[in-house]
Amino acid sequence: MKLQIYDDYRSLSEGVAAVFVDQIQQKPDSVICVASGHTPRGVFEQLRGLASSGKADFSKCQFIGLDEWIGVPADNPGSCRAMLDNDFFLPLDIPTSNIFFFDGMDENPDRQVKLANSWIADRGGIDVMLVGIGLNGHIGMNEPGTSFGRGTHVATLSASTVTTAQKYFNTHTEVTKGITLGLADFRKAKVPILMASGAAKRDIISIVLTQEPDTTWPASVVQQIPDARVMIDKACAPNIK
Ligand code: F6R
Repeated sequence: MKLQIYDDYRSLSEGVAAVFVDQIQQKPDSVICVASGHTPRGVFEQLRGLASSGKADFSKCQFIGLDEWIGVPADNPGSCRAMLDNDFFLPLDIPTSNIFFFDGMDENPDRQVKLANSWIADRGGIDVMLVGIGLNGHIGMNEPGTSFGRGTHVATLSASTVTTAQKYFNTHTEVTKGITLGLADFRKAKVPILMASGAAKRDIISIVLTQEPDTTWPASVVQQIPDARVMIDKACAPNIK
């Protein structure tokens, strides 16, 4: 695991965006997994700028969304899909044929798990995987207690995630389950990146980086991944100096 601490959110976002650009220069048809949520929005802003000035070309890349709420349609602004569509896929003109996203409305979510696994296997695995961290230490919807070896699965959300999820929705939307790539997928990614920003994440980042890896804090799996890059800003770093 490599820890990189940036002065602020902007320089952190630039740093993460630079990893993406390096990756697509080496492999233009890279397979890229991205989280939604607030943390990566600065990265997407950087990537939009780089793409519009011709410094990054994502046209040959393949994308997979990290997770989706069950029961939330893709056109709900709080869905993971809608957030990524607005911030990234639509502004960059990514063809929908180059995107896999869990359908949270599938009455058989296990089918979505199988589809994701085949999609990834058919493309030879994930190259870059950018994830955030929840206040409870989750990655994607890998909630506390999830085994570090667990792959893509249907997840029951922890009480803390159910509450926090409301920040993404305009009106109260009950979410209790989701479909998510697993910690095993994160371990297997060629460039796994955990990104975190802001004082609210300081305590959990401190735990995840300093305590013995334990499924109580799913993101502590990063300590067991030699190639993992933990990219954070100073605001969430003080307790680990
Ligand atoms: C989003 C996701 C979540 C978030 C995490 C942090 O697709 O999988 O695990 O990455 O909850 O959320 P933000 O970035 O909104 O603080």
